[in-house]
Amino acid sequence: MKALEVSNIDTYYGTSHVLHGLSLEVPERNLVCLLGRNGAGKTTAIRSIMGMTPPARGSIKIFGEEVAGSRSNNVYAKGARIVPQGRHIFPMLSVEENLHLALIGQSSPDVKAETQKAYQMFPILGQRKRQKGKTLSGGELQMLAIARAIMGPTRLLLMDEPSEGLAPVVLTQIEKTVQELKARNITILLAEQNLQFALQVGDYFYIIDNGAIVFSGDKSSLQANEEIKLRYLGVGL
Ligand SMILES: Nc1ncnc2c1ncn2[C@@H]1O[C@H](COP(=O)(O)OP(=O)(O)O)[C@@H](O)[C@H]1O
Ligand SMILES: [Mg+2]
Repeated sequence: MKALEVSNIDTYYGTSHVLHGLSLEVPERNLVCLLGRNGAGKTTAIRSIMGMTPPARGSIKIFGEEVAGSRSNNVYAKGARIVPQGRHIFPMLSVEENLHLALIGQSSPDVKAETQKAYQMFPILGQRKRQKGKTLSGGELQMLAIARAIMGPTRLLLMDEPSEGLAPVVLTQIEKTVQELKARNITILLAEQNLQFALQVGDYFYIIDNGAIVFSGDKSSLQANEEIKLRYLGVGL
């Protein structure tokens, strides 16, 4: 079963044509990476899937159901969640308030159980639950962004550059978190520029450039392809 099937989408910002016939798929329980440089179209791809910047053409299926023409709340109802680039934590709200906001609009959420689940996965967030978002470190903010995204039933998680701006030691923590999400059977599409991070957690890899897929393959074929890494990711110099 495919958790996500994107076929031939074209996405525009006004008259600016950003995604050109983009296709990719994410099998259930896999972690698929969408790699590419700044401006390649990773965020636009994620926003297209979530219905935030809907594609003008093409098909997007989540667990077999077409969502390309539908709004974000319908995509959300299919169990798709986003960890946005830059985290978007409310700085003046507490950790717990940030978590609870994610449950607004969900049908009869078990607030207590969901909150406990988040603190069990991220004990540091439990310790900081009354602290304001603005007091957290970069790594803690990323954990909160992930914890918030998976409040309530989550089947497909779209993560937009979780490694951005994090020190190597913190990255190792986020890597562990991603492994744990996989262990919980959450299917993940991970947009990244950090190849090393992606290789640690990914099952399959796409490279996007200028809004189109220019490479797809498994870990060993990506690792072996020096030309592709150099040309599209600037790695290996
Ligand atoms: N809101 C926007 N309006 C117009 N152009 C945008 C907007 N957001 C991104 N773009 C353009 O779309 C292209 C892809 O951007 P983006 O999807 O953010 O890339 P990435 O996430 O890979 O860095 C870039 O050329 C960028 O300048
Ligand atoms: Mg981006």
